[in-house]
Amino acid sequence: MAKMWAGRTDGVTDKIADDFNSSISFDSRMYKQDITGSMAHAAMLAKQGIISAAEADALVAGLADILADIESGELSIDMSCEDIHMFVEQVLTERLGDVGKKLHTARSRNDQVALDLRMYLRDEVDSIREKVTTLIEVLCDKAEEYKSAIMPGYTHLQRAQPITFGHHLMAYAMMLLRDADRLADCKRRMNSSPIGCCALAGTTYNTDRAFEAERLGFDTLCENSLDGVSDRDFCLEFMSACSVLMMHLSRFSEEIILWSSWEFAFVELSDAYTTGSSIMPQKKNSDMAELIRGKTGRVYGDLMGLLTTMKGLPLAYNKDMQEDKEGVFDTVDTVKMCLDVMAPMVDTMKARTENMKKAAQGGFINATDLADYMVKKGIPFRTAYKISGQLVAKCIADGCVLETLPLDVYRSFDPVFDEDLYEAISLEACVERRISRGGTSVSSVEYQIGLVRAALGKN
Ligand code: ARG
Repeated sequence: MAKMWAGRTDGVTDKIADDFNSSISFDSRMYKQDITGSMAHAAMLAKQGIISAAEADALVAGLADILADIESGELSIDMSCEDIHMFVEQVLTERLGDVGKKLHTARSRNDQVALDLRMYLRDEVDSIREKVTTLIEVLCDKAEEYKSAIMPGYTHLQRAQPITFGHHLMAYAMMLLRDADRLADCKRRMNSSPIGCCALAGTTYNTDRAFEAERLGFDTLCENSLDGVSDRDFCLEFMSACSVLMMHLSRFSEEIILWSSWEFAFVELSDAYTTGSSIMPQKKNSDMAELIRGKTGRVYGDLMGLLTTMKGLPLAYNKDMQEDKEGVFDTVDTVKMCLDVMAPMVDTMKARTENMKKAAQGGFINATDLADYMVKKGIPFRTAYKISGQLVAKCIADGCVLETLPLDVYRSFDPVFDEDLYEAISLEACVERRISRGGTSVSSVEYQIGLVRAALGKN
């Protein structure tokens, strides 16, 4: 059958070319946006006297029927059509006759596809933000539960200073709060209407782009028609915000995987979020966390793919840009799935606080506090640092820890030491004294939880 765009050519294409050219298998997910956009377009055409009010009514009613029929399953999307835009227009014309052919006045598929994608994505941004919020709430609750659970804090994956598990969890809450903010920010720029840019140059019809934009809930208009149909920066911003979000989920997943190992044994995931092995009966694998870490790669890939597609394209529309959608949709689906798994997985995760504490007791993570103790007694920090290091070496040689090294040994290094040193280097004291803003003390973690919950309330 000849294509709707048959004109200069006879519109008869080879089957292989059709299949290659077609995007309906993936852009059909935007049917609702396409139909809603067309309804606003028909209303605008009538308001401007470009078509009659009766024609617009017929178009709007016809479009509403198509939407209802797709949703009820009565109308199935014809996968042999080139794309969703052609499909809707074709069905409309079949059902309404000539009036259906008026819908495409003063627009092009170029502004239409840009419109659909912006409308689709701004809703998805909202739904992803909601899921991020759910995860942040879970983190705040967990942090509250474990605000005094002492664990080793690490740098270089070496035990560094004692922190609380609550403090560690709140670090991720802060990151995710910025992710939610990045998404909101990208939606602000995305929510600008391209409809009415037409093929590339605008139109000779007396259209009212602002009317159409307002009807469709846009804040602003794309003020240059070439820009409106050519750029996909709104997709790229979305994908980069999602890439950063996935990087955070991946890092957290990596820690959960490490912490679930026998080597750490800091957490125990619920059986509901782990798998066994087909051969090793003792196994409890953190497959969900591993998959989140793994899927981060495909989201980065989606971003790199579209950046690469766009980098050499002359203005305005080029068919290359049809390649934007699969990556964007994949990112949407992947990020949503990962957030859906992550929230309950973290919610049901139990901390093995006795193991965390035991790990914190080894590794001399109170050596800085020992130096600080000496500083308080008048020794310059650099000197205190050195003595503390020598005491650690002594402990290693004697097979003990700073807490069990006898006072007379301390005194043989420096007379400044007294019985009160043991209290000063106790892990609880090390944590409790870190009351600096953003620090690991219980009160500081409570303050952080309060801040994050208040920020969520403002969302
Ligand atoms: N299916 C196309 C896409 O996704 C719609 C725009 C087609 N425009 C055109 N001039 N061929 O990009």
